[in-house]
Amino acid sequence: MSDMIHTPGQIMQAPPRRAAKPPGPCAMVIFGAGGDLTKRLLVPALYNLAHTGLLPEHFELIGVDMADLDADRWRDSLHAMLESFVGNAASESRIDKIDAATWQHLTGAITYIRGDLNDDGLYERLAQHIERPSPTGGNCLFYLAVADRFFGPVTAHLGKAGLLEEHWDPDGTKPERWRHLVIEKPFGHDRASARELNATILRNAEEHQIYRIDHFLGKETVQNIMALRFANGMFEPIWNRDRIDHVQITVAETVGVESRGRFYEKTGALRDMVPNHVFQLLAMVAMEPPAGFNARAVRSRKSDVFAAMRTVAPECAVRGQYGPAPNGAPGYRQEKDVAPDSGTETYVAMQVAIDNWRWAGVPFYLRTGKRMSRRVTEIAIRFKPAPQAPFEATNVAALPPNWLLLQIQPDEGIALQFEVKRPGPVVDLAAVRMAFKYADWFPKEPNVGYETLIYDVMMGDQTLFNRADMVEETWRVVSAVLEDWEARKPEDFPSYAAGSDGPAEADMLLERSGRAWRPVADTNSALR
Ligand code: BG6
Repeated sequence: MSDMIHTPGQIMQAPPRRAAKPPGPCAMVIFGAGGDLTKRLLVPALYNLAHTGLLPEHFELIGVDMADLDADRWRDSLHAMLESFVGNAASESRIDKIDAATWQHLTGAITYIRGDLNDDGLYERLAQHIERPSPTGGNCLFYLAVADRFFGPVTAHLGKAGLLEEHWDPDGTKPERWRHLVIEKPFGHDRASARELNATILRNAEEHQIYRIDHFLGKETVQNIMALRFANGMFEPIWNRDRIDHVQITVAETVGVESRGRFYEKTGALRDMVPNHVFQLLAMVAMEPPAGFNARAVRSRKSDVFAAMRTVAPECAVRGQYGPAPNGAPGYRQEKDVAPDSGTETYVAMQVAIDNWRWAGVPFYLRTGKRMSRRVTEIAIRFKPAPQAPFEATNVAALPPNWLLLQIQPDEGIALQFEVKRPGPVVDLAAVRMAFKYADWFPKEPNVGYETLIYDVMMGDQTLFNRADMVEETWRVVSAVLEDWEARKPEDFPSYAAGSDGPAEADMLLERSGRAWRPVADTNSALR
């Protein structure tokens, strides 16, 4: 290992030290082939994998849906969607052209099977197709890009049709033919339904075949939290209750519910974001160092965090709903497919405690909401103040605290705020910021966030996926709040204006202990 100092230019041009290799041959069956997720994210991600040489050499794409399509028309509709992303800076995909050879690699072997997800006949047809001799060797990834009510039934049908059976080598150490199942979110809507879904799935497949996806773990900046913590020696000694005052996790969106009113009405911000995405961010910050960088070690350490999280008491949670904006943008109750007196929350804030030696007494404050002032996902770690400051005329209590900011999106980077001396003859202090930005150091590759996750499923690496016990624990943590909210319809909705930082009650969660949220709207908020 060298101590050489790199410049951004050198790093940009340097080839990766560990080049990824493409997975072995396989087919990918997408249930929900005509759906939004498939077109907007899965197929662009597969295209990007193909473009970077990370799609299996022998690959087959199989679409399953009710829509009246055939292979050619399905392929054409996928191509048209991808084309609409070319040069479109607003799309997730951001590709500059569709390369013909890459497209051919992705869709050269394409099949479309039309059918009703509850019909045995569909699975018989699928089995006939998959079990025929093929260059994919029978390896198959089933991706359930369908509404959550189908997760259990589709898995049960796959099991009944024998489609989840793997073949292992005689030692039982390596699958000769693997079958992996990807389950989207929401995984259940409370602890009991998550348990039931786990039970259905585990009656038909083994845990090592199941990939419960959380797309936040596909974000580079989220994966980087582990690198920051465990590839550097300097953070670990201060990463605990002795030096950290509290942690704030913000996932603020500017979008409203858009066309998803029907889904959102029965889901709400808490179920949509907290036990999954927000808790994943929390686990990355709070986990103990894993003994190795493998699925068993990493997931066990995250699972320890979830198990140590106290069930959140209703008084430690605040819900809100956006109302019309002063500029006339509609409130939640005016959105399509939303009840005019809806009690569904579009904002949630909560205080979470982790009962273990590292974090006892360190509150984690979480908030997420739609139609907020700015799109920002950020983890802000606030350090305890200096115990004593030997500077005349400086009020120690007034010194701004040190913050470490893990910027997940749209800014991608890490920033540290600390005190320096203002130049001049008298000792006067000022808070400054040291910032690392991904964009300064690494070339930006087209990436929709699903590439690594799909690649990992093909490689059989479950590190970035949830285990059964993890999803059940996370539902346990929010269970008391969910029950309380279901029992009491909110009286003060709407409680925050679209384009604001959320409801005022959320401020009280922190004010109780003399703390305050970092402003969402303030783009230079590291300096507060
Ligand atoms: C999804 C939620 O899982 O995550 C959406 O259902 C939310 O409501 C989205 O907008 C946020 O993800 P991202 O990657 O756009 O931050």
